[in-house]
Amino acid sequence: MSVVITGATGQLGRLVVEDLLVGGLPADQITATGRDTAKLADLSARGVSTARADFEDPASLKAAFRGADILLLVSSSEVGKRVDQHRNAVEAAEDAGVGHIVYTSVLGATESSLVLAPEHKATEEIILASGLTHTLLRNGWYSENYEQQLHQARETGTLLTSAGAGRVASASRPDYAAAAAAVLRDPAAHADAVYELSGDTAWTFDELAAAMAQALGREVALTNVTPEEHEAVLTGAGLDEGTARFVVGLDTGTREGELSSTTGELSRLIGRPTTPLVETLTTLV
Ligand SMILES: NC(=O)c1ccc[n+]([C@@H]2O[C@H](COP(=O)([O-])OP(=O)(O)OC[C@H]3O[C@@H](n4cnc5c(N)ncnc54)[C@H](OP(=O)(O)O)[C@@H]3O)[C@@H](O)[C@H]2O)c1
Repeated sequence: MSVVITGATGQLGRLVVEDLLVGGLPADQITATGRDTAKLADLSARGVSTARADFEDPASLKAAFRGADILLLVSSSEVGKRVDQHRNAVEAAEDAGVGHIVYTSVLGATESSLVLAPEHKATEEIILASGLTHTLLRNGWYSENYEQQLHQARETGTLLTSAGAGRVASASRPDYAAAAAAVLRDPAAHADAVYELSGDTAWTFDELAAAMAQALGREVALTNVTPEEHEAVLTGAGLDEGTARFVVGLDTGTREGELSSTTGELSRLIGRPTTPLVETLTTLV
């Protein structure tokens, strides 16, 4: 069974490759792809096949995917361009004869009001329309997403949010990678499945501040502001308006509970509890 992985130059894709290798999948059955294969040189030295695959270059995708039984399409990080990029990847998978596509979507993709959801929903529709066997990994929030706020909290002793009483059932990036690897190891068991993946515990921002305080060994006070105040603080700190609005939009989705569901599907897939928030934050200090 041969596996091709996009975004292997990124953090999640890299972790999936490592998980597959640790789990005993022969290196020559893995093709790790990315825009810049120089970033994959160490994997190549360990026997993993590597190939250039740029979502903007369909021919590169088709060449990279040829011969693979299953594709892990790690969603692109280029927000705003992702529907066309992912369509290119799905079409290339069809052309290359890939039988099964596994896609990293977002929690509640079809109903979520999260600003990130529409691109994932559209991608899921493209995959479903392709008729390929598929597995949709609707990933919730990474605990690592709070790394920047953690560093700010270390400097300032405060955590700023407009997420109000919203809860986040985050899990670690390695947890989500382990889930993807579990599916890739036994694709037939996950054919046409849709998984809502999230952490076992949905925490509040008060609890996030407390976890940061524990990880940093200093007091961290939570400052809850309105979306308008939040945007003003962010633009005042030098963020451009579009980015500030995007960040505040994520907090709005969080406040509305879009990242809070605790389905238990992630811990079931990986066969262990998800990584506690404070444990991940401690690795980021
Ligand atoms: N659930 C969450 O909380 C969360 C948080 C952040 C991101 N995400 C999503 O999950 C994905 C994986 O997360 P991550 O932490 O691994 O992100 P990451 O480290 O930023 O990796 C993103 C990957 O996408 C690749 N990529 C970007 N544009 C591409 C293109 N035009 N063609 C081919 N590859 C391209 C990057 O390649 P280069 O090395 O060439 O840049 C990189 O390998 C992200 O891309 C994003 O869609 C989810």
